[in-house]
Amino acid sequence: MEIIILSTPAEVGRVAAAKIASVVAKKPSAVIGLATGSSPQGIYADLQRRVDAREISFAQARGFALDEYVGIPPEPPESYASVIARDVVGPLGFGPSRVRMPDGLADDLEFAANEYDAAIRAAGGVDVQILGIGANGHIGFNEPTSSFASRTRIKTLAPSTREANARFFDSLDRVPTHCVTQGLGTILEARELVLVAQGSAKADAAAASVEGPLSSFVPGSALQLHEHVTVAVDEAAASKLKHADYYKYTYANKPNRQRNQ
Ligand code: GLP
Repeated sequence: MEIIILSTPAEVGRVAAAKIASVVAKKPSAVIGLATGSSPQGIYADLQRRVDAREISFAQARGFALDEYVGIPPEPPESYASVIARDVVGPLGFGPSRVRMPDGLADDLEFAANEYDAAIRAAGGVDVQILGIGANGHIGFNEPTSSFASRTRIKTLAPSTREANARFFDSLDRVPTHCVTQGLGTILEARELVLVAQGSAKADAAAASVEGPLSSFVPGSALQLHEHVTVAVDEAAASKLKHADYYKYTYANKPNRQRNQ
């Protein structure tokens, strides 16, 4: 695991975006795992800058979103389908119909969730998965006690997650109680994982995920099982890391040939 501590949230976005850009530059048809929430906004902004500068193109790339609420049609702005369309598909120029969402409106949610995992496999698997993290350690919507072997499935949102996400809805009552999320086992099958976290509210979750014991109570700790993980955090999100000095030393001494531009 590479842990990169950066001075500002914008730097976090830029460094994480460089990682995604290097994958797409090598493989224009790459499959990108897409996260929603505030955390990856800086990544998408920096990737858009690179697209506008014609450094990279997502026209041939494909995308699979991490999660979606159950019971919200795709049109309202709070659905993750809207967020992905607005923040990712449009600005980055993904080709039409090349980005898929879990179906939170299916008559048979379980069947649709299984089919989503199958579609990821049929696309050749995710080349690079973008991740944020919840203050309770969730990734995607895999709430504490999610199995490390879990697949895409229906989950009940923790009350604290509903409260955290109420800012995107008219009121807390309007936040769905359920979601469909890629499982931790699904996420771990991506070839590369890039997790970003900013702000002191994420400091405990970041430290527990990176330095704590493997525990389903901290879903982010599943990342320790993966061979290729980059965790990019700002100083505030890094404030609970015990070995911050070592991570800074390692990054400062990283050979140029291993750096993304
Ligand atoms: C949300 C999303 C996650 C996201 C996390 C943190 O509920 N389902 O994909 O990483 O919680 O959100 P934010 O980045 O807005 O803090």
